[in-house]
Formats: sequence, C-alpha cells, structure tokens
Amino acid sequence: MTIQRGEAPVVAFGGVVKEYGAVRAVDHLDLRFAAGERVALLGRNGAGKSTSIALMLGLEEPTSGTVELFGGPPRRAVEGGRVGAMLQDFTPVSRITVRELVGFVGSAYPAPLPVAEVLDLAGIGHLAGRRVEKLSGGQIQRVCFAVALVGDPDLLILDEPTAALDVQARQEFWTSMRALTDRGKTVLFSTHYLEEADRNADRIVVIDRGRLIADGTGAEIKRTVGTGLVAFDAVDGTPPDGVGTLPGVLSAEVADGRVRLRTTDPDATTVALVGLLTPRGLEVTQAGLEEAFLTLTSEPSGPAVPSGPSDPSDPSEPSATAVAAAKGTLR
Ligand SMILES: Nc1ncnc2c1ncn2[C@@H]1O[C@H](COP(=O)(O)OP(=O)(O)OP(=O)(O)O)[C@@H](O)[C@H]1O
Ligand SMILES: [Mg+2]
Repeated sequence: MTIQRGEAPVVAFGGVVKEYGAVRAVDHLDLRFAAGERVALLGRNGAGKSTSIALMLGLEEPTSGTVELFGGPPRRAVEGGRVGAMLQDFTPVSRITVRELVGFVGSAYPAPLPVAEVLDLAGIGHLAGRRVEKLSGGQIQRVCFAVALVGDPDLLILDEPTAALDVQARQEFWTSMRALTDRGKTVLFSTHYLEEADRNADRIVVIDRGRLIADGTGAEIKRTVGTGLVAFDAVDGTPPDGVGTLPGVLSAEVADGRVRLRTTDPDATTVALVGLLTPRGLEVTQAGLEEAFLTLTSEPSGPAVPSGPSDPSDPSEPSATAVAAAKGTLR
C-alpha cells in the first residue's frame, strides 16, 4: 500500500541504532510501514526483532536515530490507544479470569471492542471464565492476542505470536489476523520462519545482526535467494569454468564431490548447463524456503562457499550476493 501525500507512515525508523553496552542490537535500520500493510519481521535468534519492537513501542529509546509512530513519538501513539502489542515475555497476572483481564485492559482504551467479540476473535470464548494462571502456554498466547486486540488499535505489533501454538491454533490465529487486516489494520509480526512470513504477510522485512538485509514480498525474497538447486558430480575441487554465469545462478560451490549451483531458475540453468558440458549424476531440486532463508542470513563464510568464475563482476559470492541482490532489487 502506498503512503498518501501528507499521511505520516504508521511506523518510521530513521537510521536507528540501539546498543546495549558492547552489543549493537539494531544497526542503522530505516523502515517505513504504511496503513493497512501486513508486515513480517523475519530474523534468527538475536537478530534484533524484539529490540526493534521495544523501540516501536517506546519501551526502549534508540541510542541514535529516530523512531516515530503515526508521525509522533511512540509513547504518544501507545498512550492514545492506537497501538496494541503482544510481547514475547508476558507473565500472566494471578487470580483474575480471562474475561476480567481482557475487559480491564480494554477499559484503558478510548473505544474498546466488546470483550465477547475479542475473545471469539482470539478463539478463547470458551475460556472466558478461566483463571489466567491456570492456562496452558498456547492458551496464554491467545489471551495475549486478545489483550492486544481489545483496544481496537490501528497498529498491532506481535512478537512471535504463534510460538506456543499447535498447528490448528496457528491456522485459526492467521485466519483471525486476516479478518483484522481486512478491516484496514496495520499488522507487524515477528517470526523465525520464512514460510510463515510468506503465507501471512504481504511484505517481509528480513533483519540479521540488527541490519536490514531484505525487504519485499515473499515472492521477491524467494527469487532473490534462489530456491532452486542444480547438482552434478565434480571432476575436481572447483566448479567447471562458466557455470557461475549460467542463467539464474547465484552461487556455485563444490562439496562432497558434487558441484552445487543455487539458482533462481533451475530449468534455464539446467538447459544452459547441458549446452556447456555433459554433467554426470545431474539432480535438480527446489531448496526449501527455510534453507533459502538461512542462506540469506548466513555468515559471510556460511554454508555456500563461493568459487567458480573468475569474472569479478559475477555475483557468485553466495550470502553476500543474496544480501546485495536483496538490497539492489527489493524495495
Ligand atoms: N536488555 C538487553 N541487554 C543487553 N543485551 C540485549 C538486551 N536486549 C537484547 N539484547 C541483545 O540484543 C540482540 C538482539 O536481541 P533481540 O531480543 O532483539 O533478538 P530477537 O531477534 O528478538 O531474537 P529471538 O528470535 O531470540 O527472540 C541480542 O544479541 C541480545 O542478546
Ligand atoms: Mg525476540
């Protein structure tokens, strides 16, 4: 969704850095989210997701840079009831029922939704009279979701909302989420899984070590990292000349006696490869989304070791290439 002229972005990070002593949790992040977007914040453990969320909610101050919600300081938006949040480390309050807790939180907002409607949306209508401290981890997570929803906020920020949910609960959760975004809400959620991000967000922001490494639709990110793999027997320890520049190829490596080409277009790569040489033991597969994500966020010396063509302009340096490509081709 585009930002209308004169309309402040829902979330705006300008060159945000957050340091905890020697640890730089967020490293020069620039982000803008518009109204109605459904954004996944994707990254590995320690990538800086929760820290970014804490900054958005005004729970932490940036070391440098600016954070704005709806064109003003985060605290103003939060106190004005425009933001609902579900944090990673919620401790349930004792001796209070689910209905009481959600109603109590709702009463702090200017125009809360009816509690019964919220409990239904969160799939916990049947738990309304249960005491919060008696609930299971997954049930508590749904209560947290109800708490985030009850104020009828414009922006929902959810830190790993499905972490404790079983498969069915996950599906129900995302169904409720879609119902909400259909009402024009902006939703930002964090996750470790590209698959989950791809299925439930229309924009994916990938961060690694506090830095933005990709920003685009799921399809754009998958295209950038290349989910295809073309493998064949290696003759020696280096990929044959020319394979790194075949159509679609992002990286070429030799491991365990096999040449492996990671590619955005396995069909085109295979056809061109057969025109170049006679590959033995040819195998063409789709790499999983999660593998593609790991490639994107791997260390510079990560799983796919660069080799292949000597042309320095060829983008065959795998993780760095995926990153550069992501930066170049995505938003
Ligand atoms: N209060 C804090 N004090 C010191 N270091 C912190 C603090 N909060 C976060 N960090 C560090 O900042 C980095 C980013 O942490 P953060 O919690 O934002 O990661 P995350 O992406 O949410 O990870 P996870 O997927 O495990 O939840 C980590 O190295 C973490 O150890
Ligand atoms: Mg976290």
